[in-house]
Amino acid sequence: MTAQPTAAPVEEHADPVPPLVVRGLASGYGGTQILHGVDLTVPAGSGVAVLGRNGMGKTTLLQTIMGFVPTMAGEVQVDGRRVTGEAIHTVARAGLRIVPQGRRVFSSLTVEETLQISARGPAGTWTAERLFDTFPSLAARKKNRSDRLSGGEQEMLVIGRALLGNPTCLLLDEPSDGLAPKIVEQVSEIIVELRKEGVPVVLVEQNLHLAIAAADFVNILARGAIVWSGTVDEFRDNREIAVRHLGVGQD
Ligand SMILES: Nc1ncnc2c1ncn2[C@@H]1O[C@H](COP(=O)(O)OP(=O)(O)OP(=O)(O)O)[C@@H](O)[C@H]1O
Ligand SMILES: [Mg+2]
Repeated sequence: MTAQPTAAPVEEHADPVPPLVVRGLASGYGGTQILHGVDLTVPAGSGVAVLGRNGMGKTTLLQTIMGFVPTMAGEVQVDGRRVTGEAIHTVARAGLRIVPQGRRVFSSLTVEETLQISARGPAGTWTAERLFDTFPSLAARKKNRSDRLSGGEQEMLVIGRALLGNPTCLLLDEPSDGLAPKIVEQVSEIIVELRKEGVPVVLVEQNLHLAIAAADFVNILARGAIVWSGTVDEFRDNREIAVRHLGVGQD
């Protein structure tokens, strides 16, 4: 009699746990609810764009995920662990980092000092040396006060600060805002580099070219709810979606 084949361990066939899962997330300010049950799954190494017109809740979504805006309902899981309601430093320790909208830098500190503070996080592949290799213009400004940097250099600095935390998932809130095309290209390259290393990126953007280049999934937020989601190919091939939900063409 032949032996029955033994069952493979369940883990071998189980889907990997996504680095970030958002389920039914609701939040707001004071008594005003802004997010109304947002679902978002961010697989390892993926680029997930969140698009929407002004005031639709994109920043509120990222800030709620990080814990800066209190959650009213729903949950956020980082690597399968629920972090909803945890302190911001706990969420950061779990591996989430945010590059907030409207880059804010420490004016009295130099580039080097700003990065030294950020480097106190967990060790990983991102070091100040690697950052300066990646952003040579930042390396040339090491000793400069951060408020003397150009907009593009400030963006590199805030992204660099987040990278030195060696995130397992990076949230970017309109990183291209007000930047020259050459700098936007650099932002796009860094997203591609992160994704190649398995670090997913959630990208809030007005710049559809950047969103299409950097993401493989698109979610559209309107009045605090996801009104459309699909692959970047579906989004690009259906101009009507951008016209209807974002009020723009895609030229
Ligand atoms: N700190 C706050 N206190 C009260 N209401 C706020 C606060 N921040 C945002 N809101 C309101 O929440 C809603 C969503 O704002 P949010 O900043 O999340 O939108 P957004 O999609 O990021 O917009 P934008 O594209 O302009 O950045 C808006 O009605 C806004 O006025
Ligand atoms: Mg915003």
